[in-house]
Amino acid sequence: MISSAPEEAAGRTVGRRQILARTRLDFWLDAAIFVGYTFAYSFGFTGLVIHEWLGLALGLVLVVHLTLHWDWVVRTTRRLAGRRGHDRVIWLVNLALLFAMTLCVVSGILISRVAMPSSGGNSGEPGAPAKPHRELRL
Ligand code: HEM
Repeated sequence: MISSAPEEAAGRTVGRRQILARTRLDFWLDAAIFVGYTFAYSFGFTGLVIHEWLGLALGLVLVVHLTLHWDWVVRTTRRLAGRRGHDRVIWLVNLALLFAMTLCVVSGILISRVAMPSSGGNSGEPGAPAKPHRELRL
């Protein structure tokens, strides 16, 4: 198909707008994750109820983030064998972050008292079930 110069220019503008919109979405979502995690770590500041709902919301946003960047995950994992050390380190750091964040949310759900109280339960007694989640303290 032959397209005219104005059509091509219009197509480029639309393409650029889509890229800009996607970059904005990525930026604000990542900023929200950063702020959300900062508050989730400040348990004494938020209190239990906000902490639990915020933690669950972060789990959901994490899935959205992973979905939005799934092409990156597939691309980089496929090419890992032929990559330089630097790229492998970035890949490993991302994997470690995913593991740490999943651990935060899953261990939180297991001791939930408000948002998902039937998920395993936390009697509030010192010891076993809450311990792994408490170890998240810096
Ligand atoms: C998003 C990631 C999360 C982070 C970074 C996080 C971090 C923390 C931290 C630092 C504490 C304080 C521990 C202490 O000082 O003893 C805490 C406590 C707690 N978190 Fe989370 N949390 C997250 C998600 C969740 C979720 C999703 C839930 C449940 C739905 C949850 C439930 C709890 C409960 C029940 C406590 C009190 C534990 C206790 O002392 O019995 N958290 N969390």
